[in-house]
Amino acid sequence: MVPDDIFKKIIAHSKEYGFIFPSSEIYDGLSAVYDYGQYGAELKNNIKEYWWNAMVRLNENIVGIDSAIFMHPEIWKASGHVGAFNDPLIDNKDSKKRYRADVLIEEYMQKIEGKIEKEIVKAKKRFGEDFNEEQFRNTNPRVLANQKKIDETNKRFIFALENDDLKEMKQIILDSEIACPFSGSKSWTDVRQFNLMFSTQIGSISEGANTIYLRPETAQGIFVNYLNVQKSGRMKVPFGIAQIGKAFRNEIVARQFIFRMREFEQMEMQFFIRPGEEMKWFEYWKGARMKWHKALGIEDNKFRYHDHDNLAHYANAATDIEFDFPIGFKELEGIHSRTDFDLVQHQEHSGKKLQYFDNETNKSYVPYVVETSIGLDRMFLAIISNAYTEEKLEDGTERVVLKIPPQLAPVKLAVLPLIKKDGLPEKAREIMNNLKLEFNCQYEEKDSIGRRYRRQDAIGTPFCVTIDHQSMEDNTVTLRYRDSMKQDRISVSEIGEIIRDKVSINTLLKNL
Ligand code: GAP
Repeated sequence: MVPDDIFKKIIAHSKEYGFIFPSSEIYDGLSAVYDYGQYGAELKNNIKEYWWNAMVRLNENIVGIDSAIFMHPEIWKASGHVGAFNDPLIDNKDSKKRYRADVLIEEYMQKIEGKIEKEIVKAKKRFGEDFNEEQFRNTNPRVLANQKKIDETNKRFIFALENDDLKEMKQIILDSEIACPFSGSKSWTDVRQFNLMFSTQIGSISEGANTIYLRPETAQGIFVNYLNVQKSGRMKVPFGIAQIGKAFRNEIVARQFIFRMREFEQMEMQFFIRPGEEMKWFEYWKGARMKWHKALGIEDNKFRYHDHDNLAHYANAATDIEFDFPIGFKELEGIHSRTDFDLVQHQEHSGKKLQYFDNETNKSYVPYVVETSIGLDRMFLAIISNAYTEEKLEDGTERVVLKIPPQLAPVKLAVLPLIKKDGLPEKAREIMNNLKLEFNCQYEEKDSIGRRYRRQDAIGTPFCVTIDHQSMEDNTVTLRYRDSMKQDRISVSEIGEIIRDKVSINTLLKNL
């Protein structure tokens, strides 16, 4: 199946089964804004719990906070967001569609890279075991010509980004003959900068209201509270502050479901360290965050690092953890060495000292910061797109199953009486009432057992227990496993014991 089709199916499945709905749907929706339904909210909560516990519970030197979305407007001047939180936009004159100029150029280079990969796959087939990829890349004329195109474009692109040269960015688009993906037209407007922050007014207009912003990242709430936390928690460098919360960006190119939203959630952690130790901690957090992802049992080849050549205004090193989404490898999480940029800026703009006294070195300094920043919604998309599976069964039927890691699954256990009479529903309720104290359970008695299994597969429930007539005699049930569809006869008293470890987030934490 082509990736585009899979993506469409995942979007449709998410809606049909109560994971994600378009916002304000009865009013025809609101672009790039989504609501999480009954199973989506559970899955999201479980991802948050996994992240929060991995950061805050497992690390004695990391604490969590919950800062306000509204902050003093000066904060966004200090952080550079008022002046520099822009996207370079370009419009196609014929289709009237708007694009990010940098994305058009990156996609153009990726397309050429794709051509090179195709040549390599073809040559591998032709030469078999004797194939030497490095030699092929260095000698094949088509590969060399394409690589030259990429290198030259990339060089110009980096120059344009570093020098904020919007004219050059347009020229690259023209020289590369990049066409509008919608209309095929190559007629472009100039590139313009567009600030991504949403603003609103605080106070009544008559009293002279002030413009304030909806935060575009949660990180600044951590920076401005760093001394409060350090002092009240008697924290010693190195220490971290974690936060989960909403962020808002007026994304212009927002056509990728929950990958790029205007209202989204971030899980960020700022790690405050001694100046000069940033590369050590940058490497540490790069490794630790990749481990967190891989502990979920998702195949290793779905993740890769992408080190940044073009650094954001605040960073001296940065990498993305990219995930192989149905729309290709894209950024899932960022790890940035932010130096002392933010704290120094806040010191200057607020006029308050933000220094830390290190009693081991007897020195005061503004700490450096290494940040880990992951989009909760992107993590959700990674989980659900990796989990979505269409299977042909032996009896010729098909099923759609969400193979969500059981620890994150919205419902852990479905309790199903085989039929709606002979005391089976009452027995099932009794079992459920005991188990629901510990696990998120769902009771279902409508429809045939086969259809109920399919519904549970579709929402990713890892276990189903079925209560039948034998259960009434010997207190046993069948336990069905989602992925293998295997069924075991077990006693009711064993259910908790068997599923406990498999669905507990602690099992994931132990692997970190
Ligand atoms: N504090 C650093 C920061 O905000 P970022 O790379 O702009 O860095 C961090 O964002 C993460 O937030 C990204 O890796 C991505 O997962 C998520 N994110 C950013 N913009 C998003 C959007 N419009 N919709 C959904 N997630 C987004």
